[in-house]
Amino acid sequence: WSRTATKVDGVLEVGGVRLPDLVAEHGSAAYVLDEVDFRSRARAFRDGFAGIDVYYAGKAFLCTEVARWVEQEGLHLDVCTAGELAVAERARFPMERVELHGNNKTPAELRRALELGVGRIVVDSFHEITRLGELVAETGRTARVMVRVTAGVEAHTHEYIATAHEDQKFGFSISSGDALAAVRQIRETPGLELRGLHSHIGSQIFDTAGFEVAARRVLALHQQVAEETGVQLPELDLGGGFGIAYTTQDDPAEPARLATEMTAIVRDECAARGLEVPRLSIEPGRAIVGPSMCTVYEVGTVKAVELDGGAVRTYVSVDGGMSDNIRTALYDADYSCTLASRRSDAPVLLSRVVGKHCEAGDIVVKDEFLPGDVAAGDLIAVPATGAYCRSMASNYNHALRPPVVAVREGRSRVLVRRETLEDLLATDLG
Ligand code: LLP
Repeated sequence: WSRTATKVDGVLEVGGVRLPDLVAEHGSAAYVLDEVDFRSRARAFRDGFAGIDVYYAGKAFLCTEVARWVEQEGLHLDVCTAGELAVAERARFPMERVELHGNNKTPAELRRALELGVGRIVVDSFHEITRLGELVAETGRTARVMVRVTAGVEAHTHEYIATAHEDQKFGFSISSGDALAAVRQIRETPGLELRGLHSHIGSQIFDTAGFEVAARRVLALHQQVAEETGVQLPELDLGGGFGIAYTTQDDPAEPARLATEMTAIVRDECAARGLEVPRLSIEPGRAIVGPSMCTVYEVGTVKAVELDGGAVRTYVSVDGGMSDNIRTALYDADYSCTLASRRSDAPVLLSRVVGKHCEAGDIVVKDEFLPGDVAAGDLIAVPATGAYCRSMASNYNHALRPPVVAVREGRSRVLVRRETLEDLLATDLG
């Protein structure tokens, strides 16, 4: 739950706003964004990682107002499409603090990034280096680039595989020599200024062991580049991926501790290799916005289903589902939830919160113990839906995507409005 979430006599309040009041005003389902929580997490990264540039990964969740908060809290911004870049532009985000990612940026996206003067372009393929070289020649602009490298480390939720094969689409392999070849190609391309190497090993990671193996391998390449060129690259980006708690089982590290561990790893490795410590950057998305949002739904129907062996599971259907949170269906993600609109002393029952879409996999919360008297009209709130829920939401079954409502000090404000049938029909030319 976000920091200001509290239950008063069974009614959940976030940012001083009672969720039944919020639903009465803005409707259900709705994403509820705790502004104080978001800002304090952004600040915890900025202060914890002092001297390190913190790029907020907009793919986790981005809208114009959130881009402003990111700017105001002193963070940088990672975008990966023309769409995310357009939001940054509308928020008047300082473009020198923006980094553009992507394994298949279009020529139009690269051109726009050059026109706007984004601070860093992270290149991901030989084709792209050639394309960017042509565009800088054509536009007379220059580009500061980072090279995305694959360190051969694949991080999973609770473990990492240091010998993982590199069979995926991102980055230049260090072990095959592609990464060094990319560095050479960039250095030979007029108008491209190589700033450093970039490594991102995965998402929802809980320990720094994967970062450590990746950092050591990337710094070995960094040293090779220094030896070959006689100059050290000034920067190093270690990507994002810091895990958050979705259920009480997860135990994420504080940003300050992550910073201490990660800088120690880089410092030691640089010392061992006789290198200066490059300027570091990181790109957290989930760890900032994930816990700041919850989703509130209204219950429509309740059904008891007998399981093999005689046990019963209560299916609680809500007015949303896989169109506003695909993560359970897509990644088998674990969420929890609570009755948010009233107190109940009824004994709890094993329950499953499901959506209203036309498939059985449309599950929001796989298992939760909810009061046995949950009924139509009750509100259910699901915490930690800030990252990769609204940003991955769809119009499946022509569902209307819910609004994002920011709450703070007893007031609510719509940041992204609810979609309407007119919105849906607008792109259908009839
Ligand atoms: N930097 C790069 C280059 C990335 O690819 C990503 C995430 C991030 C930073 C931010 O990672 P974070 O700190 O948010 O973990 N849809 C999936 C997650 C996909 C992550 C993609 N890249 C999910 O819902 O779990």
